[in-house]
Formats: sequence, C-alpha cells, structure tokens
Amino acid sequence: MRVAVVGATGAVGRELLLILQQRDFKLDDLRLLASERSSGMKIPFGGVELPVETLDEKRFDGVDLAFFCVEADVSKRFVPVALERGAFVIDKSSAFRLKPEVPLIVPEVNLDSIGKSRLVANPNCSTIILVVAVAPLLRKFGIRRIVVCTYQAASGAGSAAMSELKSQTEEVLKGGEPKPVVFPHPIAFNLFPHIDSFLENGYTKEEMKMVDETKKILGDKRILISSTCVRVPVFRAHSEAVHIELKQEASVEEVRAVLEKAEGVSLMDKVEENLYPTPLFASGKDKVFVGRIRRDLAFKNGIAMWVVSDQLRKGAVLNAIQIAERVFNKKKKQRGGK
Ligand SMILES: NC(=O)c1ccc[n+]([C@@H]2O[C@H](COP(=O)([O-])OP(=O)(O)OC[C@H]3O[C@@H](n4cnc5c(N)ncnc54)[C@H](OP(=O)(O)O)[C@@H]3O)[C@@H](O)[C@H]2O)c1
Repeated sequence: MRVAVVGATGAVGRELLLILQQRDFKLDDLRLLASERSSGMKIPFGGVELPVETLDEKRFDGVDLAFFCVEADVSKRFVPVALERGAFVIDKSSAFRLKPEVPLIVPEVNLDSIGKSRLVANPNCSTIILVVAVAPLLRKFGIRRIVVCTYQAASGAGSAAMSELKSQTEEVLKGGEPKPVVFPHPIAFNLFPHIDSFLENGYTKEEMKMVDETKKILGDKRILISSTCVRVPVFRAHSEAVHIELKQEASVEEVRAVLEKAEGVSLMDKVEENLYPTPLFASGKDKVFVGRIRRDLAFKNGIAMWVVSDQLRKGAVLNAIQIAERVFNKKKKQRGGK
C-alpha cells in the first residue's frame, strides 16, 4: 500500500501519522505532502525521518490511498488529480461532503453507503461525534428532532489556533492583553458562538454543516436539527449538549441500554459519583463518551445527554483510518487475502 498524506504538517495530518503507527497500518511507501512553507522539513515516522514534499500534481503517481488533511480550496484543486491518477481518496475537508454522488461516511453508522466510489468524504468533527451517539437511538426509537449546542476545542481550528490558545493564556497570566490572530476574539479565558463564517440565515457554516451532514449520514432529511456551535478555551476534544425528541417513547434506562451496546460509544453516566465525560478525560482516546442521560423536559419523548469525544481522533483521523481499513481489507478479501 502506497499512501500519501496531504497536509502532513497540520494538526490533523500529524495526528493521522500518529494513529497510522499506533494501529500498525500496513504501508509500503508513505509520501508526506504540504505547502511550500514546509519544504525541507522532516517528520519522524516508524523510526525514520521522512521528508515533507511540496504538493503538486505529480506527487500522486503510484499512490494507492491519499488522505487529504487540508482546507477545502486545496482539496477542490488536488482531489480530482489524485483520483485521475488512480488513488482512493479520503478527504477531511468540507469540499465534497454534500455532493450527492460522494459518500459521507461514519463507519459505525453508514459504511454500506460507500458503494464503489473511490472518493469518500470524512464528515465535520462535531457531526461525527453527534451521529455516533444518536444513530443507535434513531435505529431503535426513531428521531423527530435534535437540538445540539457544542463546546469546541481550539485545536478544531488547526495547529495555529492551538498555539494561539497557549500563547494567549501565558500572556494574560503575565498581565498582558493578547491580540487575536486566528480567532475573531481572544480565546484565553473566553468563549464565543462563532465557528466558521456567518450565513444569511444567521447560523454559522459550522452549525449548518452539523444540520446538513447529519441528515445525509443518517439518511433522513425529515429529522429537524438546530445547532449552536461555541469555541471554548480547551485544547482538545469537543463536547456537545444534545436534546432529542424520539418518535417512540423510551425510558432513560432503555436509552442507556441501547447506548451501552452501541459501537464506538462508551457510557460514563454515574452522577452520584460525579462521573460524566470531560474534554480532558476524552483527549487521546478513541470513543465517543456519553453521560448525563436524562429526560428532556421540553420535548415529547425527550432525552437529553452530554457527549464528548476527541475531535482529532474519532472526529477526524480515526474515522478516516477506519474507512481505509474497511475498504482495503474488503478489497484484500476479494483478492483472496493476498
Ligand atoms: N482540526 C480538527 O479538529 C479537524 C477535524 C476535522 C476536520 N478538519 C479538517 O481537516 C483539514 C485540516 O485541518 P487542520 O486542523 O489540520 O489544519 P492546520 O493545522 O492548519 O493544517 C493545514 C495543513 O494544510 C497544509 N496546507 C495549507 N495550504 C496548502 C497548500 N496550498 N498546499 C498544500 N498543503 C497546504 C498545511 O501545510 P503547511 O504546514 O506547509 O502550511 C498543513 O499541513 C481542514 O479541512 C479541516 O477543516 C480538522
């Protein structure tokens, strides 16, 4: 397997390299690609230092699998090139997610939707975390509506944003007044309901990604979804307060029993012991953690819960690697395991 990682120097790209090693992903060749800014850089991988090459069209020759960990404009330009040169592509940007012909995949939920497509889109990080937790409830009880408020870590905006949280925190503690560069406001000791740009309907692009992508992944356009996305001064792992109106009545115990068995979910729900998930706990872990399951007091058949997951792992990289593992293991089986 010859693999290319486009955006290998970014927050998602570096996490991808880490998880490829942790999961012992079978590789014959690994090509690290980034912008000209990273030319000459070397990144350690499996005991050697691999050079970072500048992205251009020729870099995809002979590549079997390309992970795109770059912004949508770069993906829009280079994904078609990688496909044309024969690679299977998993794109983590928003460039192709809502195209009807491109499967938008969370393996625990809709792996079968991949079909024969050689391009698979990886959903938005907050969306992945949400659907892993709600899809089992949809299957068992049906869902009429979801209201979700997110508390998103700085690293969700990339490695420069993570550095901004760190440097601003240090500066404020020294009595300074840091100027925001990546974010629209100071992020240290602050939060703001503003992730990605504002749209005409008053929602942000991030909020509408959660609405539109969730419907596509769950395969049900009739579910009513509304979201508010908030950036918080946390380094890693997104949290979500999720309120659901089920179609069918279900007790809190029944919901808990379904989530206890759900793939990719880990229950942490013992309030009498102060046990519920937090971003610090979820950081570096693979599961979507669910706690504070209780009756929602505003919806008929309502359930409220608190969901936390590391958005760089399950929300981005792990999801993509799970897709690759399943696709390429299937191909291997079809070739008789060779
Ligand atoms: N961060 C998250 O939690 C998260 C979660 C899910 C999805 N995503 C998505 O994943 C993608 C990457 O996000 P990130 O957080 O990793 O961003 P990031 O930390 O800012 O990294 C961006 C990467 O893109 C590369 N790049 C930028 N312009 C390029 C160009 N013209 N040609 C080639 N490479 C270029 C950068 O290379 P240089 O270092 O050379 O500039 C860097 O490797 C985005 O689409 C984002 O929306 C992020």
